[in-house]
Amino acid sequence: MSSDGVAQPLTARRSGPLTGTVRPPGDKSISHRALILGALAVGETTVDGLLEGGDILSTAAAMRAFGATVTQAGPGDWRVSGLGVGGLLEPEGVVDYGNAGTGVRLALGVAGSHAFATTFTGDASLVKRPMGRVFDPLRRMGVQVIARSGDRLPATVRGPDTLVPIEYRVPVPSAQVKSAVLLAALNSGGVTTVIEPVATRDHTERMLAAFGAAIEVEDAETGRTIRIEGGRDLKPQSITVPGDPSSAAFPLVAALLVEGSDVTIENVLLNPTRTGLIETLLEMGADITIANKRGVGGEDVGDIRVKASRLKGVTVPASRAPFMIDEYPVLAVAAAFAEGDTLMEGIGEMRVKESDRIAAVVAGLQANGVSVEDTADSMLVHGATGVAGGGTVTTHLDHRIAMSFVVLGLASRDPVTLDDALPIATSFPEFRDMMTGLGADLSDG
Ligand code: S3P
Repeated sequence: MSSDGVAQPLTARRSGPLTGTVRPPGDKSISHRALILGALAVGETTVDGLLEGGDILSTAAAMRAFGATVTQAGPGDWRVSGLGVGGLLEPEGVVDYGNAGTGVRLALGVAGSHAFATTFTGDASLVKRPMGRVFDPLRRMGVQVIARSGDRLPATVRGPDTLVPIEYRVPVPSAQVKSAVLLAALNSGGVTTVIEPVATRDHTERMLAAFGAAIEVEDAETGRTIRIEGGRDLKPQSITVPGDPSSAAFPLVAALLVEGSDVTIENVLLNPTRTGLIETLLEMGADITIANKRGVGGEDVGDIRVKASRLKGVTVPASRAPFMIDEYPVLAVAAAFAEGDTLMEGIGEMRVKESDRIAAVVAGLQANGVSVEDTADSMLVHGATGVAGGGTVTTHLDHRIAMSFVVLGLASRDPVTLDDALPIATSFPEFRDMMTGLGADLSDG
Protein backbone atom coordinates (compact mmCIF):
# COMPACT_ATOMS: atom_id res chain seq x y z
CA MET A 1 0.00 0.00 0.00
CA SER A 2 1.43 3.35 -0.89
CA SER A 3 0.26 6.49 0.81
CA ASP A 4 -1.01 7.96 -2.46
CA GLY A 5 -3.39 5.07 -3.37
CA VAL A 6 -7.08 5.99 -3.81
CA ALA A 7 -9.00 4.80 -0.74
CA GLN A 8 -11.24 1.75 -1.17
CA PRO A 9 -14.11 1.69 1.33
CA LEU A 10 -15.46 -1.75 2.27
CA THR A 11 -18.54 -2.78 4.23
CA ALA A 12 -18.92 -5.97 6.30
CA ARG A 13 -22.42 -7.17 7.17
CA ARG A 14 -23.81 -9.65 9.64
CA SER A 15 -23.34 -13.03 7.95
CA GLY A 16 -24.77 -16.53 8.05
CA PRO A 17 -22.57 -19.37 9.34
CA LEU A 18 -19.01 -19.35 8.02
CA THR A 19 -18.04 -22.81 6.80
CA GLY A 20 -15.26 -24.42 4.83
CA THR A 21 -11.52 -25.01 4.77
CA VAL A 22 -8.95 -22.31 4.00
CA ARG A 23 -5.15 -21.91 3.85
CA PRO A 24 -3.75 -18.58 5.04
CA PRO A 25 -0.97 -16.95 3.01
CA GLY A 26 2.68 -17.56 3.91
CA ASP A 27 4.03 -16.20 7.17
CA LYS A 28 5.16 -12.60 6.81
CA SER A 29 8.04 -12.82 9.30
CA ILE A 30 9.48 -15.95 7.68
CA SER A 31 8.95 -14.59 4.15
CA HIS A 32 11.00 -11.42 4.84
CA ARG A 33 13.80 -13.46 6.37
CA ALA A 34 13.85 -16.03 3.55
CA LEU A 35 14.44 -13.32 0.92
CA ILE A 36 17.04 -11.51 3.02
CA LEU A 37 19.07 -14.58 3.96
CA GLY A 38 18.76 -15.79 0.36
CA ALA A 39 20.36 -12.51 -0.75
CA LEU A 40 23.21 -13.05 1.74
CA ALA A 41 23.94 -16.64 0.73
CA VAL A 42 26.15 -17.52 -2.21
CA GLY A 43 24.07 -19.49 -4.74
CA GLU A 44 20.36 -20.09 -5.27
CA THR A 45 17.82 -20.28 -2.45
CA THR A 46 14.32 -21.52 -3.32
CA VAL A 47 11.30 -20.35 -1.36
CA ASP A 48 7.97 -22.13 -1.54
CA GLY A 49 4.81 -20.57 -0.12
CA LEU A 50 6.23 -17.04 0.03
CA LEU A 51 3.72 -14.38 1.05
CA GLU A 52 3.09 -12.21 -2.00
CA GLY A 53 1.76 -9.24 -0.05
CA GLY A 54 2.97 -5.66 -0.45
CA ASP A 55 5.39 -5.85 2.49
CA ILE A 56 7.24 -8.83 1.07
CA LEU A 57 7.29 -7.37 -2.42
CA SER A 58 9.05 -4.39 -0.82
CA THR A 59 11.72 -6.72 0.56
CA ALA A 60 12.04 -8.47 -2.83
CA ALA A 61 12.55 -5.06 -4.50
CA ALA A 62 15.06 -4.02 -1.83
CA MET A 63 17.13 -7.19 -2.23
CA ARG A 64 17.18 -6.57 -6.00
CA ALA A 65 18.32 -3.01 -5.34
CA PHE A 66 21.23 -4.52 -3.36
CA GLY A 67 22.19 -6.62 -6.38
CA ALA A 68 20.57 -9.99 -5.57
CA THR A 69 18.53 -11.74 -8.27
CA VAL A 70 14.99 -12.34 -7.00
CA THR A 71 12.51 -14.01 -9.35
CA GLN A 72 9.07 -15.55 -9.16
CA ALA A 73 8.98 -19.01 -10.78
CA GLY A 74 5.25 -19.56 -10.07
CA PRO A 75 2.64 -18.61 -7.46
CA GLY A 76 4.42 -18.52 -4.10
CA ASP A 77 7.48 -20.12 -5.71
CA TRP A 78 10.49 -17.81 -5.61
CA ARG A 79 14.23 -18.01 -6.32
CA VAL A 80 16.92 -15.81 -4.79
CA SER A 81 20.51 -15.76 -6.02
CA GLY A 82 22.57 -14.10 -3.33
CA LEU A 83 25.87 -12.27 -3.32
CA GLY A 84 27.23 -13.52 -0.01
CA VAL A 85 27.70 -12.00 3.43
CA GLY A 86 29.21 -8.54 2.94
CA GLY A 87 28.81 -8.88 -0.83
CA LEU A 88 25.80 -6.64 -1.47
CA LEU A 89 26.09 -3.65 -3.80
CA GLU A 90 25.23 -0.03 -3.17
CA PRO A 91 21.64 0.66 -4.34
CA GLU A 92 21.35 3.17 -7.17
CA GLY A 93 18.40 5.01 -5.67
CA VAL A 94 16.41 5.45 -2.48
CA VAL A 95 15.04 2.15 -1.15
CA ASP A 96 11.30 2.67 -0.57
CA TYR A 97 9.97 0.13 1.90
CA GLY A 98 6.31 1.16 1.59
CA ASN A 99 4.40 0.09 4.72
CA ALA A 100 6.84 -2.63 5.85
CA GLY A 101 8.27 -1.95 9.32
CA THR A 102 9.75 -5.42 9.72
CA GLY A 103 11.26 -5.34 6.26
CA VAL A 104 12.97 -2.00 6.69
CA ARG A 105 14.29 -2.73 10.18
CA LEU A 106 15.85 -6.01 9.05
CA ALA A 107 17.24 -4.34 5.91
CA LEU A 108 18.74 -1.52 8.01
CA GLY A 109 20.80 -4.16 9.82
CA VAL A 110 21.94 -5.65 6.53
CA ALA A 111 22.69 -2.29 4.86
CA GLY A 112 24.51 -1.00 7.95
CA SER A 113 26.98 -3.87 7.70
CA HIS A 114 28.14 -2.71 4.26
CA ALA A 115 30.60 0.12 3.72
CA PHE A 116 28.34 2.12 1.42
CA ALA A 117 25.44 4.50 1.85
CA THR A 118 21.83 3.33 1.65
CA THR A 119 18.88 5.70 2.00
CA PHE A 120 15.55 4.23 3.11
CA THR A 121 12.10 5.73 3.07
CA GLY A 122 8.51 4.49 3.35
CA ASP A 123 4.85 5.45 3.22
CA ALA A 124 3.02 7.90 5.50
CA SER A 125 2.75 5.22 8.21
CA LEU A 126 6.35 3.99 8.07
CA VAL A 127 7.95 7.45 8.21
CA LYS A 128 6.21 8.04 11.56
CA ARG A 129 7.57 4.88 13.19
CA PRO A 130 10.54 4.82 15.58
CA MET A 131 13.80 3.62 14.03
CA GLY A 132 16.10 4.68 16.89
CA ARG A 133 15.62 1.23 18.41
CA VAL A 134 17.59 -0.15 15.43
CA PHE A 135 19.92 2.81 14.92
CA ASP A 136 21.17 2.69 18.54
CA PRO A 137 22.82 -0.75 18.35
CA LEU A 138 23.95 -0.11 14.77
CA ARG A 139 25.69 3.11 15.87
CA ARG A 140 27.47 1.10 18.54
CA MET A 141 28.68 -1.26 15.81
CA GLY A 142 30.21 1.71 13.99
CA VAL A 143 27.43 2.51 11.54
CA GLN A 144 26.92 6.15 10.56
CA VAL A 145 23.25 7.14 10.59
CA ILE A 146 21.65 10.33 9.35
CA ALA A 147 17.95 10.35 10.06
CA ARG A 148 15.06 12.74 10.30
CA SER A 149 14.28 14.13 13.76
CA GLY A 150 13.22 11.52 16.29
CA ASP A 151 15.34 8.94 14.42
CA ARG A 152 12.69 8.43 11.80
CA LEU A 153 12.77 7.74 8.06
CA PRO A 154 13.89 8.86 5.54
CA ALA A 155 17.33 7.91 6.81
CA THR A 156 20.72 6.99 5.44
CA VAL A 157 23.05 4.38 6.90
CA ARG A 158 26.67 3.83 5.98
CA GLY A 159 28.58 0.89 7.41
CA PRO A 160 32.20 1.13 8.56
CA ASP A 161 35.01 -0.81 6.85
CA THR A 162 34.97 -3.28 9.72
CA LEU A 163 31.84 -3.65 11.81
CA VAL A 164 32.42 -3.82 15.58
CA PRO A 165 30.89 -6.87 17.32
CA ILE A 166 28.86 -5.82 20.38
CA GLU A 167 27.05 -7.17 23.39
CA TYR A 168 23.53 -5.80 23.23
CA ARG A 169 20.68 -6.09 25.69
CA VAL A 170 17.50 -5.38 23.71
CA PRO A 171 15.69 -2.67 25.69
CA VAL A 172 12.21 -3.30 24.20
CA PRO A 173 10.90 -6.77 23.42
CA SER A 174 11.34 -6.65 19.65
CA ALA A 175 12.22 -9.44 17.26
CA GLN A 176 12.89 -6.78 14.66
CA VAL A 177 15.61 -5.11 16.71
CA LYS A 178 17.16 -8.43 17.71
CA SER A 179 17.14 -9.51 14.07
CA ALA A 180 18.67 -6.27 12.75
CA VAL A 181 21.62 -6.72 15.13
CA LEU A 182 22.05 -10.42 14.25
CA LEU A 183 21.94 -9.69 10.52
CA ALA A 184 24.48 -6.88 10.83
CA ALA A 185 26.70 -9.10 12.99
CA LEU A 186 27.03 -11.63 10.15
CA ASN A 187 29.47 -9.22 8.53
CA SER A 188 31.49 -8.32 11.63
CA GLY A 189 34.87 -9.62 12.67
CA GLY A 190 33.94 -11.33 15.93
CA VAL A 191 31.19 -12.60 18.23
CA THR A 192 28.12 -10.45 18.82
CA THR A 193 25.91 -11.26 21.81
CA VAL A 194 22.26 -10.27 21.92
CA ILE A 195 20.43 -10.60 25.22
CA GLU A 196 16.65 -10.62 25.28
CA PRO A 197 15.23 -10.24 28.78
CA VAL A 198 11.90 -11.28 27.24
CA ALA A 199 12.11 -13.83 24.42
CA THR A 200 10.46 -12.78 21.14
CA ARG A 201 9.74 -14.65 17.92
CA ASP A 202 12.80 -16.67 16.97
CA HIS A 203 12.52 -17.12 13.21
CA THR A 204 15.78 -15.27 12.55
CA GLU A 205 17.76 -17.54 14.87
CA ARG A 206 16.19 -20.69 13.40
CA MET A 207 16.74 -19.62 9.82
CA LEU A 208 20.29 -18.38 10.42
CA ALA A 209 21.15 -21.79 11.88
CA ALA A 210 19.61 -23.51 8.85
CA PHE A 211 21.72 -21.33 6.50
CA GLY A 212 24.84 -22.43 8.36
CA ALA A 213 25.56 -19.32 10.45
CA ALA A 214 27.70 -19.76 13.56
CA ILE A 215 24.86 -19.06 16.01
CA GLU A 216 24.18 -20.33 19.52
CA VAL A 217 21.06 -19.76 21.59
CA GLU A 218 20.86 -20.16 25.34
CA ASP A 219 17.49 -20.00 27.10
CA ALA A 220 17.37 -19.20 30.80
CA GLU A 221 14.81 -17.97 33.35
CA THR A 222 16.27 -14.50 32.93
CA GLY A 223 15.80 -14.47 29.16
CA ARG A 224 17.56 -15.58 26.04
CA THR A 225 21.17 -15.05 24.99
CA ILE A 226 22.13 -15.35 21.34
CA ARG A 227 25.74 -15.43 20.17
CA ILE A 228 26.67 -15.10 16.54
CA GLU A 229 30.10 -15.11 14.97
CA GLY A 230 30.64 -12.95 11.93
CA GLY A 231 32.58 -13.75 8.80
CA ARG A 232 31.04 -17.13 7.99
CA ASP A 233 29.44 -17.78 4.57
CA LEU A 234 25.76 -18.69 4.39
CA LYS A 235 24.70 -21.71 2.35
CA PRO A 236 21.60 -21.41 0.14
CA GLN A 237 18.54 -23.32 1.32
CA SER A 238 15.16 -24.65 0.16
CA ILE A 239 12.60 -22.97 2.38
CA THR A 240 8.95 -23.86 2.80
CA VAL A 241 6.99 -21.01 4.38
CA PRO A 242 4.11 -22.14 6.62
CA GLY A 243 0.79 -20.24 6.81
CA ASP A 244 0.81 -17.04 8.85
CA PRO A 245 -0.88 -17.38 12.26
CA SER A 246 -1.33 -13.60 12.37
CA SER A 247 -3.41 -13.84 9.17
CA ALA A 248 -5.18 -17.04 10.28
CA ALA A 249 -6.34 -15.00 13.30
CA PHE A 250 -9.00 -13.22 11.22
CA PRO A 251 -10.98 -16.21 9.86
CA LEU A 252 -10.38 -17.85 13.25
CA VAL A 253 -12.00 -15.09 15.30
CA ALA A 254 -14.70 -14.55 12.66
CA ALA A 255 -15.70 -18.23 12.93
CA LEU A 256 -15.85 -17.95 16.72
CA LEU A 257 -18.16 -14.94 16.58
CA VAL A 258 -20.53 -15.77 13.69
CA GLU A 259 -23.23 -18.13 14.95
CA GLY A 260 -23.21 -21.67 13.56
CA SER A 261 -19.72 -21.39 12.01
CA ASP A 262 -17.34 -24.32 11.55
CA VAL A 263 -14.08 -23.49 9.78
CA THR A 264 -10.80 -25.34 9.30
CA ILE A 265 -7.63 -23.31 8.74
CA GLU A 266 -4.89 -25.50 7.33
CA ASN A 267 -1.11 -25.31 7.41
CA VAL A 268 -0.75 -22.70 10.16
CA LEU A 269 2.62 -21.93 11.76
CA LEU A 270 2.43 -22.94 15.44
CA ASN A 271 5.84 -21.76 16.63
CA PRO A 272 5.38 -21.27 20.41
CA THR A 273 6.43 -17.62 20.11
CA ARG A 274 3.40 -17.01 17.87
CA THR A 275 0.52 -18.86 19.57
CA GLY A 276 -0.50 -16.40 22.29
CA LEU A 277 -3.83 -15.64 20.62
CA ILE A 278 -4.87 -19.31 20.50
CA GLU A 279 -3.87 -19.73 24.15
CA THR A 280 -5.94 -16.68 25.11
CA LEU A 281 -9.00 -17.71 23.08
CA LEU A 282 -8.89 -21.18 24.66
CA GLU A 283 -8.92 -19.50 28.09
CA MET A 284 -11.96 -17.52 26.92
CA GLY A 285 -13.78 -20.78 26.19
CA ALA A 286 -13.24 -21.02 22.41
CA ASP A 287 -13.89 -24.32 20.67
CA ILE A 288 -10.55 -24.65 18.88
CA THR A 289 -8.84 -27.93 18.08
CA ILE A 290 -5.49 -28.48 16.46
CA ALA A 291 -4.92 -31.51 14.26
CA ASN A 292 -2.20 -32.89 12.05
CA LYS A 293 0.64 -31.27 14.01
CA ARG A 294 3.84 -31.66 12.04
CA GLY A 295 7.24 -30.11 11.43
CA VAL A 296 7.83 -28.11 8.26
CA GLY A 297 11.29 -26.67 7.60
CA GLY A 298 12.22 -26.50 11.29
CA GLU A 299 8.89 -24.97 12.38
CA ASP A 300 5.76 -26.48 13.99
CA VAL A 301 2.70 -26.44 11.75
CA GLY A 302 -0.87 -27.70 12.19
CA ASP A 303 -4.50 -27.43 11.05
CA ILE A 304 -6.88 -25.45 13.24
CA ARG A 305 -10.60 -26.27 13.45
CA VAL A 306 -12.75 -23.60 15.02
CA LYS A 307 -16.46 -23.58 15.82
CA ALA A 308 -18.64 -20.67 16.92
CA SER A 309 -18.35 -20.31 20.70
CA ARG A 310 -19.63 -18.26 23.60
CA LEU A 311 -16.61 -16.47 24.98
CA LYS A 312 -15.95 -15.07 28.43
CA GLY A 313 -13.67 -12.17 29.35
CA VAL A 314 -10.16 -12.82 30.68
CA THR A 315 -7.06 -10.94 31.77
CA VAL A 316 -4.22 -11.32 29.29
CA PRO A 317 -0.92 -10.96 31.17
CA ALA A 318 1.84 -8.65 29.93
CA SER A 319 4.17 -11.67 29.67
CA ARG A 320 2.13 -12.95 26.73
CA ALA A 321 2.38 -9.74 24.68
CA PRO A 322 5.46 -10.70 22.60
CA PHE A 323 3.72 -13.92 21.56
CA MET A 324 0.64 -12.20 20.18
CA ILE A 325 1.57 -8.56 19.71
CA ASP A 326 -0.06 -8.33 16.27
CA GLU A 327 -3.21 -10.16 17.38
CA TYR A 328 -4.54 -7.74 20.03
CA PRO A 329 -6.74 -5.78 17.59
CA VAL A 330 -8.69 -8.89 16.62
CA LEU A 331 -8.65 -10.15 20.22
CA ALA A 332 -10.28 -6.85 21.21
CA VAL A 333 -13.01 -7.57 18.66
CA ALA A 334 -13.53 -11.05 20.14
CA ALA A 335 -13.61 -9.47 23.62
CA ALA A 336 -16.41 -7.12 22.55
CA PHE A 337 -18.68 -10.17 22.13
CA ALA A 338 -17.52 -11.96 25.28
CA GLU A 339 -19.36 -12.14 28.56
CA GLY A 340 -17.58 -9.81 31.00
CA ASP A 341 -14.45 -7.69 30.75
CA THR A 342 -11.20 -8.46 28.97
CA LEU A 343 -8.10 -6.68 30.23
CA MET A 344 -4.97 -6.66 28.04
CA GLU A 345 -1.88 -5.62 29.97
CA GLY A 346 1.60 -4.57 28.88
CA ILE A 347 0.66 -3.77 25.28
CA GLY A 348 2.38 -0.37 24.90
CA GLU A 349 4.27 -1.62 21.82
CA MET A 350 0.93 -1.59 19.98
CA ARG A 351 1.19 2.19 19.88
CA VAL A 352 4.19 2.09 17.50
CA LYS A 353 2.95 -0.41 14.94
CA GLU A 354 1.59 0.50 11.47
CA SER A 355 -0.69 2.84 13.43
CA ASP A 356 -1.22 3.58 17.12
CA ARG A 357 -3.21 0.37 17.35
CA ILE A 358 -4.57 1.03 20.83
CA ALA A 359 -6.02 4.37 19.69
CA ALA A 360 -7.31 2.86 16.43
CA VAL A 361 -9.00 -0.07 18.20
CA VAL A 362 -10.55 2.15 20.87
CA ALA A 363 -11.91 4.57 18.25
CA GLY A 364 -13.20 1.73 16.03
CA LEU A 365 -14.91 -0.11 18.88
CA GLN A 366 -16.46 3.07 20.27
CA ALA A 367 -17.77 4.01 16.81
CA ASN A 368 -19.62 0.68 16.85
CA GLY A 369 -21.15 0.91 20.31
CA VAL A 370 -18.57 -1.05 22.31
CA SER A 371 -17.45 0.23 25.69
CA VAL A 372 -13.66 0.27 25.97
CA GLU A 373 -11.00 2.10 27.98
CA ASP A 374 -7.26 2.44 27.53
CA THR A 375 -4.16 3.54 29.39
CA ALA A 376 -0.69 4.11 27.94
CA ASP A 377 -0.09 0.36 27.84
CA SER A 378 -3.37 -1.46 28.43
CA MET A 379 -6.87 -1.88 27.06
CA LEU A 380 -10.05 -2.90 28.85
CA VAL A 381 -12.96 -4.08 26.69
CA HIS A 382 -16.38 -4.41 28.30
CA GLY A 383 -17.98 -7.36 26.53
CA ALA A 384 -21.69 -7.59 25.74
CA THR A 385 -23.99 -10.20 24.22
CA GLY A 386 -24.41 -8.13 21.08
CA VAL A 387 -22.51 -5.35 19.33
CA ALA A 388 -24.48 -2.57 17.63
CA GLY A 389 -22.09 -1.87 14.73
CA GLY A 390 -23.20 0.80 12.28
CA GLY A 391 -19.94 2.77 12.51
CA THR A 392 -17.24 3.79 10.08
CA VAL A 393 -13.71 2.80 11.03
CA THR A 394 -10.55 4.71 10.10
CA THR A 395 -7.87 2.17 9.18
CA HIS A 396 -4.83 4.53 9.28
CA LEU A 397 -2.87 2.56 6.61
CA ASP A 398 -2.99 -0.42 8.99
CA HIS A 399 -3.87 -3.82 7.53
CA ARG A 400 -4.60 -5.45 10.87
CA ILE A 401 -6.96 -2.68 11.96
CA ALA A 402 -8.81 -3.08 8.65
CA MET A 403 -9.19 -6.87 8.92
CA SER A 404 -10.13 -6.77 12.61
CA PHE A 405 -13.06 -4.46 11.92
CA VAL A 406 -14.23 -6.57 8.98
CA VAL A 407 -14.51 -9.37 11.54
CA LEU A 408 -16.50 -7.08 13.87
CA GLY A 409 -18.94 -6.26 11.05
CA LEU A 410 -19.62 -9.95 10.28
CA ALA A 411 -21.10 -10.46 13.75
CA SER A 412 -22.53 -7.06 14.71
CA ARG A 413 -26.18 -6.02 14.27
CA ASP A 414 -25.58 -3.24 11.74
CA PRO A 415 -22.89 -3.11 9.03
CA VAL A 416 -19.37 -1.86 9.75
CA THR A 417 -17.64 0.22 7.08
CA LEU A 418 -13.88 0.69 6.63
CA ASP A 419 -12.76 4.02 5.19
CA ASP A 420 -10.04 2.16 3.28
CA ALA A 421 -9.48 -1.57 2.77
CA LEU A 422 -6.40 -1.16 0.54
CA PRO A 423 -3.85 -1.69 3.35
CA ILE A 424 -5.08 -5.30 3.70
CA ALA A 425 -2.95 -6.19 0.66
CA THR A 426 0.26 -5.58 2.61
CA SER A 427 -0.10 -8.91 4.41
CA PHE A 428 -3.19 -10.74 3.12
CA PRO A 429 -4.09 -9.93 -0.52
CA GLU A 430 -6.54 -12.86 -0.73
CA PHE A 431 -8.36 -11.90 2.50
CA ARG A 432 -11.56 -10.67 0.90
CA ASP A 433 -11.95 -13.66 -1.45
CA MET A 434 -11.12 -16.10 1.32
CA MET A 435 -13.65 -14.58 3.72
CA THR A 436 -16.33 -14.36 1.03
CA GLY A 437 -15.66 -18.01 0.18
CA LEU A 438 -16.43 -18.92 3.80
CA GLY A 439 -19.75 -17.04 3.58
CA ALA A 440 -18.82 -13.52 4.73
CA ASP A 441 -21.02 -10.71 3.40
CA LEU A 442 -18.58 -8.05 2.14
CA SER A 443 -19.22 -5.30 -0.38
CA ASP A 444 -17.50 -2.25 -1.83
CA GLY A 445 -18.29 1.17 -0.44
C1 S3P B 1 7.97 -9.02 13.56
C2 S3P B 1 8.09 -8.62 14.85
C3 S3P B 1 7.04 -7.86 15.56
C4 S3P B 1 5.71 -7.84 14.82
C5 S3P B 1 5.88 -7.68 13.35
C6 S3P B 1 6.75 -8.77 12.77
C7 S3P B 1 9.10 -9.75 12.94
O1 S3P B 1 7.51 -6.53 15.72
O2 S3P B 1 4.86 -6.83 15.32
O3 S3P B 1 4.63 -7.70 12.69
O4 S3P B 1 8.90 -10.37 11.87
O5 S3P B 1 10.19 -9.73 13.51
P1 S3P B 1 8.50 -6.14 16.94
O6 S3P B 1 9.64 -7.03 16.83
O7 S3P B 1 8.89 -4.72 16.73
O8 S3P B 1 7.69 -6.32 18.17
